[in-house]
Amino acid sequence: MTGAGSRGSTADEGGGSPVSVHVPVLLPESLAVMELAPGMVVVDGTVGAGGHARAFAARLGAEGVLVGLDQDAEILVHAEAALGGASSSAVEGGSTAAEGSAAPAPRSSPAPRIVLRHASFAAIEAELASVGLSVCDRVFLDLGVSSLQLDTSSRGFSFMRDGPLDMRMNRSADVPSAAEWLRSVRPDVLERSLADLGGERHARRVAAAIVDARRRAPLTRTGQLADVVVRALPPKARHGRIHAATRSFQAIRMAVNDELGALQRGLEGALRVLRKGTGRLCVITFHSAEDRIVKRFLRERTTLPFRKPIEAGDDECRRNPRARSARLRCGIAPDCQSAGSAPPPATHGEIAS
Ligand SMILES: C[S@@+](CC[C@H](N)C(=O)[O-])C[C@H]1O[C@@H](n2cnc3c(N)ncnc32)[C@H](O)[C@@H]1O
Repeated sequence: MTGAGSRGSTADEGGGSPVSVHVPVLLPESLAVMELAPGMVVVDGTVGAGGHARAFAARLGAEGVLVGLDQDAEILVHAEAALGGASSSAVEGGSTAAEGSAAPAPRSSPAPRIVLRHASFAAIEAELASVGLSVCDRVFLDLGVSSLQLDTSSRGFSFMRDGPLDMRMNRSADVPSAAEWLRSVRPDVLERSLADLGGERHARRVAAAIVDARRRAPLTRTGQLADVVVRALPPKARHGRIHAATRSFQAIRMAVNDELGALQRGLEGALRVLRKGTGRLCVITFHSAEDRIVKRFLRERTTLPFRKPIEAGDDECRRNPRARSARLRCGIAPDCQSAGSAPPPATHGEIAS
């Protein structure tokens, strides 16, 4: 997950189904920052495999509501299992995947109402409205993709396992796959995406190699793309701490799914639905481009309960290397916030890190 939360044991069973476990990152820290209480309405905008959501649900009591959104219908099946095994049949766009299912809660706490929706957090306002709510107490976003997506070769996110070059989180939406995007993207746009979204220092070389390769034959497999990327890099850059294709794959995935655009819309929407004065927006980022957006948004539009982002401790990083890049930030919806208003002046900005 640039947002790949974290990875447990992973392996792909030929057919493309993962046997990986998604371990939620910064879980105790997220719980502390969320300051949950019974009766709250919580939106987990990236419910994924339900790791964070399960812990949230256990703190909401019978009067609470947990709305879980994910734009990946295949992942919602895992969320349903984690949150009580509700029916997984309805995972169409904007549909209710599970409603009223029992969340595993501490023995003494009754379960809240749980609603899972196949939707983007960019549409948080409409999604909340569709379950009869207009205000919520908490919005949580754990950005990027999950281990389950990365480890399923047929989804085409991974340079480690050959598969079709897809990378779409929402396969029922009208968005091009990575193969289609790479077929037609302008060379300068490709180069900028690799640099800005992936932090690829050799973006020019990689973009040129991709353009050259696609002239000869369409790029259709992840293995093929990984090969082109690695060969394009200077020999010294081919053997680092991370796989040499990591940055390019991340950039292409973020471009294909318009992750930064969705993030901006999601933050705006969250602020419109959060309870004024007390509603909390908590976001885990895994990448500098998304972290910059979140940091700036929270600084300009919310009150910050703490200055610096929370990062994973040595222990968590050792157990789960992906937690190394995770940063948790939080903002409290201001009293005076009105929908679509311009950012308030400096007062909220001065304490940001
Ligand atoms: C890092 S995982 C979340 C893991 C989750 N917190 C857990 O503990 O299992 C990110 C999830 O967000 C989803 N996602 C990414 N962008 C999204 C968006 N714009 N709207 C809804 N879901 C999104 C992905 O499909 C993925 O399942």
